[in-house]
Amino acid sequence: MTPTISTLLYLVAAICFIMALRGLSSAATSRNGNLYGICGMVIAVLTTLLSPAITKYGGIIGGITLGGVIGTIIAKKIKMTALPQLVAAFHSLVGLAAVFVAGAALYNPKAFGIGAVDAIYTASLIEMSLGAIIGAITFSGSVIAFGKLQGLISGKPLMYKGQHIFNAVLGLGLVALIVFFALSQYHGIFWIMTVVSLVLGVLLILPIGGADMPVVISMLNSYSGWAAVGIGFTLNNHLLLITGALVGASGAILSYIMCKGMNRSIINVILGGFGTDSASASEAVSSAASDKPVKLSSAEDAAYMMSNASSVIIVPGYGMAVAQAQHSLREMGDFLKSQGVKVRYAIHPVAGRMPGHMNVLLAEANVPYDDVLELDDINSDFGTTDVAFVIGANDITNPAAKTNTASPIYGMPILDVEKAKTVFFVKRSLASGYAGVDNELFYRDNTMMVLGDAKKVCENLLKALKGSH
Ligand code: TAP
Repeated sequence: MTPTISTLLYLVAAICFIMALRGLSSAATSRNGNLYGICGMVIAVLTTLLSPAITKYGGIIGGITLGGVIGTIIAKKIKMTALPQLVAAFHSLVGLAAVFVAGAALYNPKAFGIGAVDAIYTASLIEMSLGAIIGAITFSGSVIAFGKLQGLISGKPLMYKGQHIFNAVLGLGLVALIVFFALSQYHGIFWIMTVVSLVLGVLLILPIGGADMPVVISMLNSYSGWAAVGIGFTLNNHLLLITGALVGASGAILSYIMCKGMNRSIINVILGGFGTDSASASEAVSSAASDKPVKLSSAEDAAYMMSNASSVIIVPGYGMAVAQAQHSLREMGDFLKSQGVKVRYAIHPVAGRMPGHMNVLLAEANVPYDDVLELDDINSDFGTTDVAFVIGANDITNPAAKTNTASPIYGMPILDVEKAKTVFFVKRSLASGYAGVDNELFYRDNTMMVLGDAKKVCENLLKALKGSH
């Protein structure tokens, strides 16, 4: 294949990736977005395989087959609720790949067209250093993020005195090492730089609490994109440059959107210290909550109230995902609609544990896109709604975000479910949500608690609805 044809095909692949991102911006077009992404990747891989620089295929085909099999098995087995840690694990591999490519270029510069051993071009040495540093930070940071999300490491922020200064010293040290390396080409400095970056990756992520991990993962996603840009420069590969920049920029934008959804600054997230262990938070809440009276209700009561309502807004949250209640919930909503009740779904930008979490689950259960409304589009309707049915959601409804300046969620926009005539909360206990703060709505006069697993409650509710008709 001639270089002109391969450049053209890389351009087509890059356009496919841009179309993929565009498609993924809405649930209605996300399937097409995925298809564009698949097409772009197939074109990119085939074009690379047909490059005249590749003379032996055994190792490549073996690698693709092994990786493909592992990827297929993981994709089939993974639960939606475990996707954030899976993404973290995958990002760690992108970071590691960047380190390996930089190392390979250092030991065999001729193969990369960047000079000879000990006579590598200065610009290439800097690109190689940046690729290795960002890659190593992404690798070790993602491993720690994975450990926190998987519960292997405590979700508590691990803080110590002077940590920001120490991290800044390590950062400045890395800059100095890049300069030494570019001047001396000494291989040992390259590896010292890699080890310091690995340590920095760990130290940057350890102080960040569990509640901020999704933002961190999106940031690491962005870093992995910039690491790919570093590799793209080393390999002089335009497609890697474009794709890396797309991933880098989109990851950064996503982190910004998430921070906006929680009304936090990205600096505040990076500096860490927010979020608690869910276990200790639950303990704190149960002791605080046990003295206050709550109105306990049942699926049958909720069925009665909702079948007599003229409008119902369903607010799904993380617990719906855990219980996999979306299908029973959709059946319940459909039944109410068939009885003339106006049913809509309200989506908070950070409901669940990853962006678009609720949209994906509701789309999977075939909830019509027109019934699913974002916070800004539906929040003013709660005041004229008979029933707010909050299923497995907590923090995103907590009025402390508006009133309690000391609360860790203060400033986060919330869904104003409290304004509905009646609020049903479906959850298993009075425990707190991910941010570890008590929700005063549980004790309000117009709130009814339906305690139980979200899926079981929906099934019982549907049974009760059908039984009464
Ligand atoms: P949470 O506040 O975490 O509340 C979820 C509730 O679901 C829990 O209180 C839990 O109560 C309940 N639950 C768990 N399993 C259940 C089951 N099987 N059946 C019924 N209920 C169940 O979730 P949310 O309201 O969706 O808020 C999201 C949180 O994640 C926010 O704090 C947000 O800032 C944070 N976060 C999200 C993102 C993104 S991008 N989505 C990013 C960063 C941070 P019980 O234990 O009593 O059942």
